[in-house]
Amino acid sequence: MKWIVNGEVYEEQEARISSRNRGALFGDGLFETFRVEKGIPLFLNEHLVRLVQSAEKLRFTHIPDEQEFKRAIREAIRWNQVKSGYLRLTLTRGNGGFAVPLKQLDQPCYWVEARELPLKTNLYDQGIRAIVSYPICNPLSPTSGTKSLQFLDNIMARDDAEKKGVQEAILRTVEGDLCEGASSNLFLVRDGVIRTPALNRGPLPGIVRAWVIQTAHQLGLTVEESRLEPEELHQADEVFLTNSSLGVFPCVQVNGQSVGHGVPGPVTCRLIRAWKEAVMEQTKASF
Ligand SMILES: Cc1ncc(COP(=O)(O)O)c(C=O)c1O
Repeated sequence: MKWIVNGEVYEEQEARISSRNRGALFGDGLFETFRVEKGIPLFLNEHLVRLVQSAEKLRFTHIPDEQEFKRAIREAIRWNQVKSGYLRLTLTRGNGGFAVPLKQLDQPCYWVEARELPLKTNLYDQGIRAIVSYPICNPLSPTSGTKSLQFLDNIMARDDAEKKGVQEAILRTVEGDLCEGASSNLFLVRDGVIRTPALNRGPLPGIVRAWVIQTAHQLGLTVEESRLEPEELHQADEVFLTNSSLGVFPCVQVNGQSVGHGVPGPVTCRLIRAWKEAVMEQTKASF
């Protein structure tokens, strides 16, 4: 596998970052995870806009321009001959110790990895199971709502889920209400209305979350963004999750209790179909 590091191509074994890289030392950086289909990175512009906005929020003084990122993404797909797979762009504030003022750190560092990873189609028919996890999301944190490299809370929550034999952990805010999955956004459906935690409750402004909200409106479905309590998971007719790697996918069980009839519901299935169509549409364009 080849990696692109600051615009240069390296064999995986040769790709290096400094031991003073701030991403490694402090989680001082951001990442974006893309789905690639037919060699095209989906929602490319949306991901890059979120990256730039997050970098501004985290007070990066300088980041490579959009064209440079696009070139690196194109190269990573081409060198690794990815048709249907996964691509990750990581951006850190470069190298430097704790005492260096943020405004002096103007040499950011980025790298891109891409690999073949076809979708598992049974995920969409069978759905996944989840547990409700810690109250750890802090909507008031300055890093809230960014896809920052500080991801250990999410990894530990996911580890708890795996130890319980399920695939996803649903995180709560420090006030106990629902926030998002460890690597996904969360949606409930009740009486035909789609509900999702509002962005002011701290979830990542997910690329697929935004797509679902827009598409649901186009399909004539009602979407409410609000504060949601954990009990609402058990009252829901359907629960589904979204992320860029998997699109829209059903969650059929929470804390050992079936959601609705324990199978993917009609609203979820409709959005999965719409997602697959949107992917087909996007892969018609050149990149
Ligand atoms: C914590 C978290 N929330 C939500 C998402 C979904 O975001 P997106 O649709 O942009 O992939 C992710 C993606 O991995 C995530 O890690």
